[in-house]
Amino acid sequence: MQLSTRHLLGIRDLEPQDVQKILDTAQQFKEVLQRPIKKVPSLRDITIVNLFYENSTRTRISFELAEKRLSADTINFTASGSSVSKGETLLDTVNNILSMKVDMVVMRHSATGAPHFLSKRVPAVIVNAGDGINEHPTQALLDAFTIREKLGTLEGARVAIIGDIMHSRVALSNIYLMRKMGAEVMLSGPPTLIPRHIEEAFNVRVEYDIDKALAWCDVANVLRIQLERQNQVLFSTLREYSQAYGINRRRLDKVGRPIHVMHPGPINRGVELDSDVADSGHSLILGQVENGVAVRMAVLYLLSGKS
Ligand code: NCD
Repeated sequence: MQLSTRHLLGIRDLEPQDVQKILDTAQQFKEVLQRPIKKVPSLRDITIVNLFYENSTRTRISFELAEKRLSADTINFTASGSSVSKGETLLDTVNNILSMKVDMVVMRHSATGAPHFLSKRVPAVIVNAGDGINEHPTQALLDAFTIREKLGTLEGARVAIIGDIMHSRVALSNIYLMRKMGAEVMLSGPPTLIPRHIEEAFNVRVEYDIDKALAWCDVANVLRIQLERQNQVLFSTLREYSQAYGINRRRLDKVGRPIHVMHPGPINRGVELDSDVADSGHSLILGQVENGVAVRMAVLYLLSGKS
């Protein structure tokens, strides 16, 4: 049981069978995580480095826990506090770490394509934990797992992705994944934050009216405004954004039927999502985080060559 790729660089490179295999394997690991002893020996002789060149809370902890639950040896590298500040290149850093007999690299980097670059130059298996504004494949996989768990299938699921589509690697990975697995995708948000011609490029819908998008969907995946990635003014103020596109109880009540609300975190409360929704029965947010560990266990296991 193996994947059709040696690395996980993006959802773009996966076949639908790969996604199916990862989600089914994650289901088995989720069962392991409910047991009193939440650990299996599967990766006992594997060493994994978590290489984080960009801030992260959930993704870093989730990968580390997944590795520990699989009994792998793990080391954590964060760019701040390392020799990166002394001018060491990415490739030199990684080659030095790999010379200590490390098998797999989980990496997050602010540069789009950094994991692809490494995968062509080093012998280790590379798992992309987010590269710039490109992809965040394990986030999309855990989102898909969570939707499948709630709706029973991805086929025909109506998924609205709402917010800063332009700067979001979560959005791109989700679009690839949902379309590959037969879900319908609608993008909603300010016109300045949705790339032009994206409908034709990805076979998705675009709806600038948030209330219409909510009325259409089964699941609303709400994204953060990636202010740190915007170097020009793409909308007026956060207050105005929240009024036009923020998801709140009043908007959901208007829909008149239950919608599942997801968010990859970190939430900017009161901007893209109000607390009366984030902390309500509509919210799948903490379930997504829980599922992330099982999904990352599945990815690491299937790529390790031990399956
Ligand atoms: C996201 C990221 O870093 O891409 N967070 C995450 O990994 N769960 C989304 C974000 O930063 O808004």
